[in-house]
Amino acid sequence: VISALSIKAQRPATTNYDEAKVPVYTLPEVLKTGSGKAIKSAKAWEKLRRPEVLELFAENIYGPIPKDFDEIKFSLKNEDRNSMNGKAHLKEVLIEVFRNHKRIAINLTLFIPNNAKSPSPAFLLINNRGKENTDPTRLVKSEFWPAEVLIESGYAIAAIHVSDMAPDDKNEFMNGVLQLYPEQLNANNGMRAIAAWGWGASRVMDYFETDPQIDAKRVAITGHSRGGKASLWAAANDQRFALCISNCSGNTGAALARRQFGERVKVINTAFPHWFNTNYKKYNDHEELLPVDQHMLISLIAPRPVYATNASEDLWADPKGTFLSLKNAENVYGLYGKKSKLPEVAPGLNTPITEPPLAYHNREGKHDLRVYDWKQFIRFADNYYRKK
Ligand code: GCU
Repeated sequence: VISALSIKAQRPATTNYDEAKVPVYTLPEVLKTGSGKAIKSAKAWEKLRRPEVLELFAENIYGPIPKDFDEIKFSLKNEDRNSMNGKAHLKEVLIEVFRNHKRIAINLTLFIPNNAKSPSPAFLLINNRGKENTDPTRLVKSEFWPAEVLIESGYAIAAIHVSDMAPDDKNEFMNGVLQLYPEQLNANNGMRAIAAWGWGASRVMDYFETDPQIDAKRVAITGHSRGGKASLWAAANDQRFALCISNCSGNTGAALARRQFGERVKVINTAFPHWFNTNYKKYNDHEELLPVDQHMLISLIAPRPVYATNASEDLWADPKGTFLSLKNAENVYGLYGKKSKLPEVAPGLNTPITEPPLAYHNREGKHDLRVYDWKQFIRFADNYYRKK
C-alpha cells in the first residue's frame, strides 16, 4: 500500500488504486463475431473470428505489422566460439532490410549453448532498457538479460534493442522501421513504435530460420513493460513464435483496460503518443468503447502458451487485471483442447503457475525483469517443450 501511494504521488490524480472503485464493466465477447455468430470450434475461430480480432487491434490500437519488404540480408559481424568460458557461441548478426530503396539495420546479439546436441530453443528479448543490459562481451552482467543462466539451462538467448526499430521518443520514433513504411506513418491506423519493435522481432525470426544452430520452431518472444506490450503484439501477428512472455506489461499490454486500474489509456497516450496509433487516442477516457480488451490479445496467441507477470509494488501495471486477462482468454485455448492450469483467483506473491498454456506470477518487489522472473520462464518453456 505504501508503494502504491508513493507511485500515486507522481501520477495524475485520475489514477485509481482502489479495488472498490473499479467500474462495473462488460468485456467484449471473444467467441462471438462482429455479426453475432457464436464461435464453437478452433476452425471457426481461425477462419471467422481471429482475423476479425487481429484487425480490430491493428485498426484501433497498435497499427499492423507489415509483412512486405524487398530484401533482407544477414551478416555475421562478430563471433566468439568460446565466450562464457567456452560455454557459449556468441554471434553478433547485422540484419538489413530494404524496401522502396530505403534500408534499416537491426543488431542482433545471440549466445548459443556449446554443449547442444541439436538446434537450440531460444529466448529473444526486445530490449527497452540500456544496451549495456545485453553486453556481448559479458563484462557487464545484468539481471534484465541473464545470458549465463539461459545458457546453463540449455537455451540460446538473443536480444535486439528498440532503438534500432523505432527510437523510444515521440520526436524520433519515425527514424527506423517507419522509414520503410511512410504510408503507415501518415495513416491514423498505422503502425507506431510498439508495432515497429514487434516487426523487428519478426525479422529476427527470419534470421533464426536460416541459422542451423537455432530451433526456429521453439522461439520464445520476451519483453518487459513497454517491451512486453510489443512481445504480445509480435506473437499475435507472427505465429512462428512458439511462446510469448510479457513481463510487467500493464496497460495496453497484458492488463485489462476496462478495469481502469493504475495506468489509463489517456495517460499512456499522453505520455507516450508515439507507441500506439492515432485512432487509439479516441479511447482516452473511454475504455468502455474499445471494441476489444486485452484478454483478446492473449487469445490471438492461442494455442501457443503465454506467460504474463507482475510485481507487487507495480500496481501501475494492474496485477489483478493481468491475471483476469489471462483467465478471460481460457475459453479460446479450450477450443484447442488446452486446459488452463490457472487457479480461479490470482495466486499469492511469489507463487508462479508455470504450466502451459497460460502462466502467471506476481513477484514481490518492483517493476523490473529479474533472474527470478527468468527462472520461471525457463520452467515454463521446459514444461511446454517436454510435453510436446
Ligand atoms: C511507463 C508507462 C508504462 C510502461 C513503463 C515501462 O511507466 O506508463 O506503460 O510499461 O513505463 O515501459 O517501463
